[in-house]
Amino acid sequence: MPDLAPLSISLGPFRLRTPVLLASGCCGYGPELAGCLPMEEIGGFVTKTVTLRPRPGNPPPRVRETAGGMLNSIGLENVGLERFLSEKLPQIRRLPPFRVVSLGGYQASDYAEQAGRLDGQDGFEALELNLSCPNVAQGGLDLGTDPARVREAVRAVRERTGKFLIAKLTPNTQDVVALGRAAEEGGADAVSAINTLVGTGVDWHTRTAMPSPGSGGLSGPAIRPVALAMVWKLSRALQVPVIGIGGIMDARDVLEFVLAGASAVQVGTALFLDPSGARVRAAALRGEMDILRVGSCESLRGNLEKRSTHAPPREALR
Ligand SMILES: Cc1cc2nc3c(=O)[nH]c(=O)nc-3n(C[C@H](O)[C@H](O)[C@H](O)COP(=O)(O)O)c2cc1C
Repeated sequence: MPDLAPLSISLGPFRLRTPVLLASGCCGYGPELAGCLPMEEIGGFVTKTVTLRPRPGNPPPRVRETAGGMLNSIGLENVGLERFLSEKLPQIRRLPPFRVVSLGGYQASDYAEQAGRLDGQDGFEALELNLSCPNVAQGGLDLGTDPARVREAVRAVRERTGKFLIAKLTPNTQDVVALGRAAEEGGADAVSAINTLVGTGVDWHTRTAMPSPGSGGLSGPAIRPVALAMVWKLSRALQVPVIGIGGIMDARDVLEFVLAGASAVQVGTALFLDPSGARVRAAALRGEMDILRVGSCESLRGNLEKRSTHAPPREALR
């Protein structure tokens, strides 16, 4: 394994081995991927979103490939909090940090109740509130697009937990910074952005809208520029760290998000192409840093500049 020191990065009070976390919904509850991806070569993972009660999810078809990405409408299928505590958490405990449990709900009290029940448990370091799922009929996106409701949900959770608290924001909004500020005011320790963008595919043969309920969440490289723009804005506007998500496929993409101000990143859709995560693991990151002559991830953070229309490009100045 390469020397991890130049890759390690701080996230609040934590020191992550590398900036790369596996994104919610793309690595099971964590242990599923540990069989094919050496967890000590990444920074950590986020579990599938857990809700108070089990959810069967949406009927198939739940995924559809698109240009540069995919649409999904899983509909938050999960085992519910009880089974999560009895079956999944004991397995998660055996994995190395940084372990994040993702929580979903319809209203602030759902998130707060789950956070309260998880607070006394060990085996994970942080909670991520999925305030942004576009694939459930109620709650999810409605709650996540309203700054007042975001503030209320985060505050309700903050009152019930001492765990590191991450608020995951939706991109399906005019003003992501307003949502980020609301999360910060509610007591979030960090925000993560972005979840998927609402999109529809067309099945020409059956003339039906896809995936199954008629729309889904768009992820993958197609959304990376949207994600980068939002992460850049958030990192300049907020005091709390920002975790960048959206279309990260390889080590260079990871470094782009760090440059745009991300303290860490999450990788989702890329894991469907290669569950071993080879292109974002420690060795790949070190290789890319050598090519780009980046000494440490931390030194890169937030150094993205606007190109002035009048000034000559940087390379011309050398
Ligand atoms: C199949 C699938 C399932 C997902 N499930 C969840 C989920 O349960 N909770 C959540 O917060 N995000 C979920 N997401 C969103 C991802 O965590 C991530 O925010 C989004 O896909 C953008 O990153 P990417 O382009 O790297 O995939 C899911 C994404 C996909 C593709």
